[in-house]
Amino acid sequence: MSNLQDQVVIITGASSGIGEETAKELSSKGAKLVLAARREERLKDLADQVNQGGGQAVYKTTDVTSYEEMEHLAEFAIEEFGQIDAIVNNAGLMPLSYLNKQKVKEWDQMIDVNIKGVLYGISAVLPHMRERKQGHIINVSSVAGHVVFPGSAVYSGTKFAVRAITDGLRMEESAESKIRATIISPGAVSTELTSTITDEDVKGGVEDLYEEAIKPDSIARTIRYALEEPGEVAINEIVVRPTNQSM
Ligand SMILES: NC(=O)c1ccc[n+]([C@@H]2O[C@H](COP(=O)([O-])OP(=O)(O)OC[C@H]3O[C@@H](n4cnc5c(N)ncnc54)[C@H](OP(=O)(O)O)[C@@H]3O)[C@@H](O)[C@H]2O)c1
Repeated sequence: MSNLQDQVVIITGASSGIGEETAKELSSKGAKLVLAARREERLKDLADQVNQGGGQAVYKTTDVTSYEEMEHLAEFAIEEFGQIDAIVNNAGLMPLSYLNKQKVKEWDQMIDVNIKGVLYGISAVLPHMRERKQGHIINVSSVAGHVVFPGSAVYSGTKFAVRAITDGLRMEESAESKIRATIISPGAVSTELTSTITDEDVKGGVEDLYEEAIKPDSIARTIRYALEEPGEVAINEIVVRPTNQSM
């Protein structure tokens, strides 16, 4: 039997791409899922699919930029399933642009979703996990959290931050409360992520990179692997690129 059997996992950004595939993968191993994102119809369809396939999933429309909504999400998970074993802070967006385009609103959005959303996710589950002295927090960073390229300054800034925050969390909590912390850093993955790019000068290069993008189910399996290891094993960081992506 999988270690994931009956584990309660919150997934943010579950309405598409990596989050959606992660839900399907974890459900196939018996996890009980709490799905979160803003698009209700997508969440409902996914939850129906999981439940009709013999799994267990509930959903709550949640904007990760709202601290209150993230707290309500954690409360909802406990009401529905009695506990939270893990959270996958996956919601994110990537409106890449050159700094001189001054797309300040997009910078704000990235900082709010990619950094604050992850922090709010951590805060929402931390007291519960500390009390139980167990839990697993998986934060989705990026290869762009390891390297910067022209057009990725702000996005990379948010994803470097995710790595810093996750490593800080690991140091603070691993010995103290036995909470595991994992960074997942994907390379180019074929999802809706590039649809948020409005800077035409960046789009071309990104389209070239994404021609060889891998499918999101590879990232879902990576997340499943980290979660499935026994409690005394912490998979702290994994980078997953298309084989021929050099950067
Ligand atoms: N695809 C790649 O190449 C790649 C590479 C490296 C890292 N990543 C990271 O992987 C994660 C998932 O992205 P993806 O590739 O699966 O892209 P995606 O298909 O665009 O999914 C993004 C998810 O984030 C959710 N989201 C966005 N803003 C939100 C908000 N304010 N509140 C709640 N949910 C929000 C979206 O749901 P709603 O719109 O319904 O709210 C959606 O479910 C992101 O953190 C991304 O940075 C992706």
